[in-house]
Amino acid sequence: MDKKIITADGTETFFNQEYQEAYHSTKAGAYTESLQKFIFPCNIPELAKKGEISILDIGFGLGYNVAVAIKEAKKVNENVKINIISIEKDKSVFEKIKSLNIPENLKDVYSFLLSGKFTTKKIGKVELPVYFAQNENIILTVILGEGRNILKKLSQTELKFDAVFYDAFSPKVNTEMWTVDIFKVVKSLMREEAVLATYSASLAVRKGLIEAGFKIGLVEPVGRKSYSTVATIKGTIPPLTEKEKKRLESSPYAIPYQDPDLNLPPEEIKRRWEEKLEARKNLLQS
Ligand SMILES: C[S@@+](CC[C@H](N)C(=O)[O-])C[C@H]1O[C@@H](n2cnc3c(N)ncnc32)[C@H](O)[C@@H]1O
Repeated sequence: MDKKIITADGTETFFNQEYQEAYHSTKAGAYTESLQKFIFPCNIPELAKKGEISILDIGFGLGYNVAVAIKEAKKVNENVKINIISIEKDKSVFEKIKSLNIPENLKDVYSFLLSGKFTTKKIGKVELPVYFAQNENIILTVILGEGRNILKKLSQTELKFDAVFYDAFSPKVNTEMWTVDIFKVVKSLMREEAVLATYSASLAVRKGLIEAGFKIGLVEPVGRKSYSTVATIKGTIPPLTEKEKKRLESSPYAIPYQDPDLNLPPEEIKRRWEEKLEARKNLLQS
């Protein structure tokens, strides 16, 4: 059974046994991480002013990113319409959420999140298993299943999103979700001005985003030294530093993870990446 952890800002998360990682940065705090690494970098308050937001939430987990997004959007515009599509492979996250002590100011949003039902929904041409919650202004559809398959299916629909929360476990353990090939699929689901935000500072991830056709930028560190990452097609994001541009050009680690048919096991994606890394290191030494 996964264990509960209290994070630096007092909010709770879980340690996931399968991935041997926490759902949130314990040093930043679960709530703080959502706000500073996802909700503000994706400009949710600005988007809320326009009246309607569509969010793609990759890795629903304990629902913090979704809950904080709804909270911050409604602060700016009580009547904002929000359509959220989340992706999650693990149905048991809803049981975990029920055992969290929810921060006082998120209680109303979490009672909405927990009002949902397991059912199926037609997404494009196919019926998919989902967890679905809806009220007057908000629709939350958590599509249950393997992220790559779901994203491929979504990309065959007309759906386009204003913001993407990219929050799988780390590239080392959840490698299949961090490849250049899956980033291309995600890009096809984004409006040109949309921002994708992720906590990852990995060079392989940053290079993968660039090779998928994104412009990338950095977000001020929270609870650690590394900057997190934002990506967009044509939107406005903070720039890359000169130092980071150089690292992306010259570090042997700046090679994207690859999964051309979106079906390799994570260990195999990582093994191939490590092989390329060794070859690059040898080349640099010779
Ligand atoms: C870091 S947690 C997400 C935390 C969440 N965003 C929050 O705010 O509470 C990562 C989530 O991604 C899910 N996940 C990991 N790999 C996946 C995959 N291949 N397909 C779908 N979901 C995946 C995990 O089950 C986990 O719930």
